[in-house]
Amino acid sequence: MSFNSTTPGVSGETSRLALLESQLAALFEVSRVLSRSLDLRQTLREVLGVLHERARLRQGLVSLLDEERGELLISALHGQDAEPFEAVSYRPGEGVIGHILTANAPWVLPRLGDEPRFLDRLNLYDPDRPFIGVPIRCDEQAIGVFAAQPPVGAELLDDRARFLEMVANLIGQTVRLARTVEAEQQALREERDKLRREVRGSHGFDSIIGRADAMRLVFEQVRQVAKWNTTVLIRGESGTGKELIANAIHYNSPRARAPFVKLNCAALPDNLLESELFGHEKGAFTGAVSLRKGRFEQADGGTLFLDEIGEITPAFQAKLLRVLQEGEFERVGGGRTLKVDVRVIAATNRDLESEVRAGDFREDLYYRLNVMPIRMPALRERMEDIPDLARFLVAKVARMQGRELEITDSALRVLMRYDWPGNVRELENCMERAAVMSENGVIDRDVIQLTGIDLNAGAPEPSRPATAMTVPGSGAVDFNDPDLDERERVIAALEEAGWVQAKAARLLNMTPRQIAYRIQTLNIKVRQF
Ligand SMILES: Nc1ncnc2c1ncn2[C@@H]1O[C@H](COP(=O)(O)OP(=O)(O)OP(=O)(O)O)[C@@H](O)[C@H]1O
Ligand SMILES: [Mg+2]
Repeated sequence: MSFNSTTPGVSGETSRLALLESQLAALFEVSRVLSRSLDLRQTLREVLGVLHERARLRQGLVSLLDEERGELLISALHGQDAEPFEAVSYRPGEGVIGHILTANAPWVLPRLGDEPRFLDRLNLYDPDRPFIGVPIRCDEQAIGVFAAQPPVGAELLDDRARFLEMVANLIGQTVRLARTVEAEQQALREERDKLRREVRGSHGFDSIIGRADAMRLVFEQVRQVAKWNTTVLIRGESGTGKELIANAIHYNSPRARAPFVKLNCAALPDNLLESELFGHEKGAFTGAVSLRKGRFEQADGGTLFLDEIGEITPAFQAKLLRVLQEGEFERVGGGRTLKVDVRVIAATNRDLESEVRAGDFREDLYYRLNVMPIRMPALRERMEDIPDLARFLVAKVARMQGRELEITDSALRVLMRYDWPGNVRELENCMERAAVMSENGVIDRDVIQLTGIDLNAGAPEPSRPATAMTVPGSGAVDFNDPDLDERERVIAALEEAGWVQAKAARLLNMTPRQIAYRIQTLNIKVRQF
């Protein structure tokens, strides 16, 4: 030190060197703090702390422009909670801080108290100390101000100001990143909420068609059972809407906001099924490169839908029974017992009772699952729902194809003559095929016949009373209704008359010759059922 004091020039260099060294160390520390977290207020406070400790910068302040209000608000103050200062704001151009923002340039004051524009709104600053304020920029634009006070009589103020600028640049990048992340999170939250609303809408009762008594019973059961955590077993032939009902139970239950996780048990062999359901630890088997949560864990707090439960092997039935009984399991290759809170809904199209009798399905598991059975009626047991369903499904295809589609009553009557072994799914496929076949968007009887459903294979009992063939919702056919399309009118009469032309002619007040002529000119394919 004595050497330095005798040579003032070298002393200046040395103290500058010392300053730069301490600034370098502080900058390193600041960059570490900034990269640690995206909680902006917290990080900024920590940065001010580092500058206080390492660079002897006091009364550090970060204020950021609030875009909505168009004012600078305090985001962080060293050693203080910013909250009490939330009411303090600076308009652009106002006071020292506001001026720095507008000028978008640093401002160095050797003694703060000498500056007439100094407002002292915060009542924190030491008027005897120097003051340095620099803009915080984002894409060249000033979005805030960073300011602090070096010690009384500090030299090298320009060097210090340059250092503050460097820190302000880092802060600017962090603010930009935090804002981008916040905007993205906001967008994701909105997207999630929108999807949630859509999912709720598409799994509400409105999107499940059925007014037959058998379906009303199903709806009532869903309404009742949704409230509780009871295990539900949905029975019914393929394509009757089992999955749709499982969805409806979940989305109408108190668990609606938690996950709904599905697994088709028929799709996987035992070992894969086990790791799918229970997950596996890293290295549990070849290919298990990392830990993986199973469906039970994913569904924690929500609902797990086990489709085709009748297909699992007896060995696996035992494993499943334990989770259902205890709510406990281990990941494959793991010793730790995990506990989850999951509501289970299972579905099958198998006759589980006879499988139990044959010894293929464990009786205890059967009773565990069959707490609340819901039986989905086959479509042929609720023919009266076909018109509503067909119209609903046609509207669905229309939305998909982005065009208008319409299904005629004669087409609906044809659909009601078929016994639909593939149930609603088959009807849905048939409607999609019909829509593809229909050039003008009208799905009539002929288009249905083009789809290739084998009407002769159905159950068109000739003894079925004619009333069973009328289309609900359209009422009994009035053959003299002038609004009815001529072709539809003739077809309706023919159907009513069991395709006996003379009888149909009487219904239409025509002669047999007239109706024969119409059948020919309207290109109606006469079928005998
Ligand atoms: N009542 C209904 N109202 C409207 N659409 C329905 C109805 N029932 C079933 N569907 C539709 O029919 C199709 C088959 O339904 P779902 O997949 O729920 O049947 P499933 O019983 O699970 O069949 P599978 O046993 O073949 O898996 C789905 O596209 C579904 O949206
Ligand atoms: Mg299914």
